[in-house]
Amino acid sequence: MRALVAHSQTDVRLDDDASLAPEGEVVLDVAYSSLNYKDALAVTSRGRIVRRFPTILGIDIAGTVVSCTTEEFKEGDQVVGIAHGLGESDGGGYAEQQRVRAETLVPLADGLDLDLAMAVGTAGVTAMLCVMALERNGLTPDGREVAVTGAAGGVGSIAVMLLARAGYRVVASTGRPEQEPYLRSLGASAIIHRDELSKKGGPLQSERWAGAVDTVGGDTLVNLVAQTAYEGSVASCGMAGGADIQTAVWPFILRNVSILGVSTNKPSKESRIAAWARLAKDLDLDKLRELRRIEPLSKIRELSEEILAGQTRGRVVIDVKS
Ligand SMILES: NC(=O)c1ccc[n+]([C@@H]2O[C@H](COP(=O)([O-])OP(=O)(O)OC[C@H]3O[C@@H](n4cnc5c(N)ncnc54)[C@H](OP(=O)(O)O)[C@@H]3O)[C@@H](O)[C@H]2O)c1
Repeated sequence: MRALVAHSQTDVRLDDDASLAPEGEVVLDVAYSSLNYKDALAVTSRGRIVRRFPTILGIDIAGTVVSCTTEEFKEGDQVVGIAHGLGESDGGGYAEQQRVRAETLVPLADGLDLDLAMAVGTAGVTAMLCVMALERNGLTPDGREVAVTGAAGGVGSIAVMLLARAGYRVVASTGRPEQEPYLRSLGASAIIHRDELSKKGGPLQSERWAGAVDTVGGDTLVNLVAQTAYEGSVASCGMAGGADIQTAVWPFILRNVSILGVSTNKPSKESRIAAWARLAKDLDLDKLRELRRIEPLSKIRELSEEILAGQTRGRVVIDVKS
């Protein structure tokens, strides 16, 4: 079986005789995986993502059940897995077949197919969890602006789409002004350059945002928090621009502003199923088809370099059979 295997931190290659992962109740015929920022760090050996060797990479997986040793799934079921150790401590989705823990998998949500599920992937589920976190913290579409940073990327594009469809006024922050038509087609009502949000500013600035989805981190997150209106919140899920933040307590103690941490690493099966059901219902599937491209596994290295350089638009679905 062909798969992309990390034999060590620095030895990552396509093997034609790779083995299924040793642990898991479900054997899958894999149809698609996807490319996330984290995948690219693992493929290029630039991040310490993989926690045991050898491991097949790919943090997303979508396919059809070949066999299952528990009652949960049966042969022919279409299932999806994101994060949850895939491609890190467990075998991932960059393989023609894979053995996966039943706990990692959920049934494909009604309305999606395997390709569209991977167009969503970890990035899309993260965007959904960000929106759900903001809503739990009181965000409603009341005409005020909601910011999305890294908007032309995977998490950002899907966050823009979800928020715009739910009736929010979305301001998309991007470092690629040429992506304005694309971002408007996803529903953004205004575009700002990423430099506006990444320059050093004070810890308390004029109130602008009712809420925000931040995939960039660093000074961008600091500025978003400083500009968030009373009782607003910022869902922080990424670090495409930097991991460190330095701020002061003023937005928290004077404006009741919250930073909501969002991790897609190990949410419960119940919350994954809820997120997928909402994605299937709330996403414009025709637009989702437009914002994803399907690429062969054989191109994974150059695709990884592209995403790390901030050049990828929307989502990349990986066809593991080509
Ligand atoms: N918390 C979680 O569980 C979780 C899950 C998935 C992803 N993430 C994180 O979320 C982030 C986005 O992931 P993704 O898969 O959407 O990646 P992506 O497709 O590469 O999107 C990242 C976007 O960030 C912007 N960007 C890139 N470099 C930047 C820089 N130096 N400064 C400011 N902006 C920059 C670019 O958007 P523009 O060109 O529009 O500016 C880029 O398209 C990553 O940090 C990833 O690790 C976290």
